[in-house]
Amino acid sequence: MALPITIHTLARKTREGEKIVMVTAYDAPSARLAEAGGADVLLVGDSLGMVVLGYADTLSVTLEDILHHTKAVARVREHALIVADLPFMSYQVSVEQALTSAGRLLQEGHAHAVKLEGGLPVIQSVERMVAAGIPVMAHLGLTPQSIHQLGGYKVQGKTPDAAARILADAHALESAGAFSLVLECVPSDLAALIAMELTIPVIGIGAGAEVDGQVLVFHDILRYGTAYAPKFVRAYANLNALIPEAIAQFAADVREGRFPTSDEAYAPSPEVLDALRAIAHRIDAEGDDEIAGGYGGASS
Ligand code: KIV
Repeated sequence: MALPITIHTLARKTREGEKIVMVTAYDAPSARLAEAGGADVLLVGDSLGMVVLGYADTLSVTLEDILHHTKAVARVREHALIVADLPFMSYQVSVEQALTSAGRLLQEGHAHAVKLEGGLPVIQSVERMVAAGIPVMAHLGLTPQSIHQLGGYKVQGKTPDAAARILADAHALESAGAFSLVLECVPSDLAALIAMELTIPVIGIGAGAEVDGQVLVFHDILRYGTAYAPKFVRAYANLNALIPEAIAQFAADVREGRFPTSDEAYAPSPEVLDALRAIAHRIDAEGDDEIAGGYGGASS
């Protein structure tokens, strides 16, 4: 059995130049399968709102939603580190709110760490959570909880000013005690520079190869129920084709009487069959009422 992966394991991997693999997991099967595939970190991301709950964005995801899904992942996790997202409006109101929400994700959800989006505005909350013993993963670049402010799912840090702001935020988050940083949708050279300057692991998504690890959404890797994939996704399977084919075969087998066969059914017991035949015979001969009376009724 593999040793549990901790935030220190991730720091060591980065020191030794070993890439970190993070995959989203929203439920027991995705957690089991992602771990079986060798994921170091299972991210219960608020992307679950779009991927499995059918919302148009991540803003509708609540702390209760994340808790529900984190519990499912934690029930089956064997050794991967579980990071749970703090969803929109579960930490932006105050430092106390951030601490309370993060505490619930560890205490009730059994996550090992939390992730939150943003730079300078969340620094105090990061410090407070870290001081309380809660490991914090930061998230900069394209931060989907600010989608209306960003004006769409666009690459961030494309101007010198924007890039400098992301770099400054990254340094501030590291100083505040974040154990890792996710960089989403930023130019590769900016991501490479940040990964070089920070000592904590920088995990990229749409941020090029020169970072300390990569994260992708489970359903994107498998092309599973997804209608669209961004440029940075590489799909390693196509369940969007396989699953409907399998369901169509099942439907045809049911409709044409090929499913189930006797091998897929429970063998009849000859004694039970004989008893049932006898009952059916008596019903034919005497009618239902007489038989019902014969099973506990006054006339038995
Ligand atoms: O919610 C999520 O899945 C994420 C990843 C895209 C990093 O935040």
